[in-house]
Amino acid sequence: MAGCRSWLFFVSVYAVSLFGAKAEIKLTIPVGRLFTYELLRETFQSDFEPLSKLYAGRLYDDPMIFKCNKQNFPDLPEWLRFTQRHPYENGFLYGTPLEPGKSIIEVYAVNKRSYETTRQIFVIKAEAEKKLPYQAEFFIKLREIEKVLPSSVQGEIKQDLQKLWDTEALEVVNISNALDHGGRVPLPIAGHFEGVYVKVGSKQYFSECLLKTLTAEHEKQCTAGAKVKVPGGCNFCSIPSNCISWCKIQLFDLTKQKPAPPAPTVGSGIMEAGGDFNPPDSPPSRDYFPDYMVTVIVPLILALILSLILAYIMFCRREGVVKRDKRTDHIQLYHHHTIHGNTDELRNMAGHRRAPAPLSTLPMFNYRTGEGAPPLDSDSPNIPIIMAQHDPYCDTLPRK
Ligand SMILES: *[C@@H]1O[C@H](CO)[C@@H](O)[C@H](O)[C@H]1NC(C)=O
Repeated sequence: MAGCRSWLFFVSVYAVSLFGAKAEIKLTIPVGRLFTYELLRETFQSDFEPLSKLYAGRLYDDPMIFKCNKQNFPDLPEWLRFTQRHPYENGFLYGTPLEPGKSIIEVYAVNKRSYETTRQIFVIKAEAEKKLPYQAEFFIKLREIEKVLPSSVQGEIKQDLQKLWDTEALEVVNISNALDHGGRVPLPIAGHFEGVYVKVGSKQYFSECLLKTLTAEHEKQCTAGAKVKVPGGCNFCSIPSNCISWCKIQLFDLTKQKPAPPAPTVGSGIMEAGGDFNPPDSPPSRDYFPDYMVTVIVPLILALILSLILAYIMFCRREGVVKRDKRTDHIQLYHHHTIHGNTDELRNMAGHRRAPAPLSTLPMFNYRTGEGAPPLDSDSPNIPIIMAQHDPYCDTLPRK
């Protein structure tokens, strides 16, 4: 088995080295049908390995990412998409061309182990094909786009839909990620999938089963959100993950579509000659003085008035009365006078006290020995409040 694989590698490497980077893959596809191309990591892997390693039968499985773009353009053409879930999985180019034409696609594979790159060129030629008049879009809830794009899975889904449509003549028109239809990114929990829309088309008119989804009864069931009963004999889903959502079926009858409005007539692209360029008049000048008054002068005047009021309150309306000493003509604040008055009043009150004062309030109380002073007439207001006790440099405080 391993020998067979390495032989296969050898063949593909040989082919690549024979044609060098000029090797192109040419594809011809019909317009209006789904195109899928699986970018196999194996084939690109063989580009990265020297032949000697391949001869030795060593197989590498490097993580790889792909960068795809239209040649000489930064991105892919509008109809073509690229997806790859993980560097250890294959990538897919897919999409539905809507107009005939040729696109040259460059695919760069970046080896995430060695950071080597290799290039592959695809020439995709879309050829006109008759439009399928009857199309229907189905939603598959339990799928992700990368899991549906491999042709085997596409075949399984198509088989179920062929039975549902009751015809063999069925073509896949489009497969797209539900995220492109405004779907939400699912929680990263097993059993939650992004969902995939599959659009198929046929020359044959819709089957009974499909038409049943248009009935009022079916719509009512869907809007009620109840378990929708699949119309009898219409459930053809063989693999659970391929089952379609019955409430998300959309039928398109393209035969009934209105013809597209005629395309606008295109001019020559050259401006008519004659006439000088006439620049538009400059707008009338505007008088900014009222704005200036309102935004600058008025707030300034208000601020001035407020500061004047504040100044008046601060200097002329202070609490307390300013007293003018007539003899020295010095301003003396009244409260200076009241300190004296209050002190005298307190002394007076102390003089009338009956109970003996606490020791600590006595003037000669020694706080270390607890020794009291000789019972002087301690209540006399003439005793100094603080007296020097052990400080030789400090005499008795002056007292009144
Ligand atoms: C296919 O699906 C994609 C994503 O919704 C959309 O942009 C594109 O127009 C579709 N193509 C056709 C042919 O319906």
